[in-house]
Amino acid sequence: MFLRNCWYVAGWTRDVQGDAVVARKIIGDRVVLYRQPSGRLVALQDRCPHRHAPLSLGRIEGDTLRCMYHGLRFGADGRCVEVPGQDTIPAKACVRSYPVREAGCWIWVWMGDPEQADAALIPPGLVGHDDPAWVLGGESLSYQANYELINDNLLDLSHISFVHRNTLARQSLQWGETRPDTRELPRGVRVERWLRDDTAPAHCAPPPGERFDRWTWYDYLAPGVFLLQSEYHAPGTAQAAGLRRPDGPRPRYVNLTQQAVTPVDERHTIYYFTAGHRPEDGYAGRTSLQVAAVVKAFEEDRTVIEAQQKVIDELPPVPMVPTGADGAVTRFRRVMQRLMAEEAAS
Ligand code: FES
Ligand SMILES: [Fe+2]
Repeated sequence: MFLRNCWYVAGWTRDVQGDAVVARKIIGDRVVLYRQPSGRLVALQDRCPHRHAPLSLGRIEGDTLRCMYHGLRFGADGRCVEVPGQDTIPAKACVRSYPVREAGCWIWVWMGDPEQADAALIPPGLVGHDDPAWVLGGESLSYQANYELINDNLLDLSHISFVHRNTLARQSLQWGETRPDTRELPRGVRVERWLRDDTAPAHCAPPPGERFDRWTWYDYLAPGVFLLQSEYHAPGTAQAAGLRRPDGPRPRYVNLTQQAVTPVDERHTIYYFTAGHRPEDGYAGRTSLQVAAVVKAFEEDRTVIEAQQKVIDELPPVPMVPTGADGAVTRFRRVMQRLMAEEAAS
């Protein structure tokens, strides 16, 4: 089951440049992406109506895309504008055209009813590679698992103390033993927490032995967009802030990550992520160290999630047993169910 009336990340803006004609599969649909000479992006269904060859094997000609099997040519609205060797164009010679936008580092495609495409539903405030306030790197990973298991993983960060005990947790049990504040948003959840007397990751290059109070907050938004910042403050800041959001001194370090979970189909998902820091926290090689650290951690996630998917697929279904750490998981699943129900009703 997929939500259709929403924006899915279809790739990095850098993936579709110049003459590139790029194939993607998103929630089971095949999509082809290309750019017109003006730079405007086009997203069409990746199936020529003639003999069903993929248009992603085609060629950009001006604003149009030519199928390189028998040469039918299509405009950005999906209508056929040329059939070689004949003057008439069959009325049914058209392909679906998807609303497409660029925001932050990514290309976003609306997979549902085009009439309902609303650019305001792309999360505001996304950071791109050209944002002077941040230095970003990024990668993507492919999972042989259903997207919901990845959403669940990101909504319950208690797993950091266990899955990532030697990487992100740095042996701390605080992720597993503390409970964040969680509240519902119109299309997602916000999760906030302090980890007190914690260390900072090696890529921050903290002075040896220095400890921090760490404020971490994130929004998790339909259909699977994770926007997190971590601030490292002097010890005692959490107490002084009454365990609420800090508004006092500038943090010693701030790390940012933006992630998007895009289902390919029911058992295959692409996971896009950026990792970044403020320019003033940088040094030569810092960004790639930070990205390498998160790639290592996300490969730990992938190992457990793909193994979890196999167990789910092989054994007879039984209900999962929730714990107190599942608050955000449960809330977000409820939000998704509501959005899917609204979509079905409309
Ligand atoms: S399959 Fe595209 S032109 Fe024939
Ligand atoms: Fe993880």
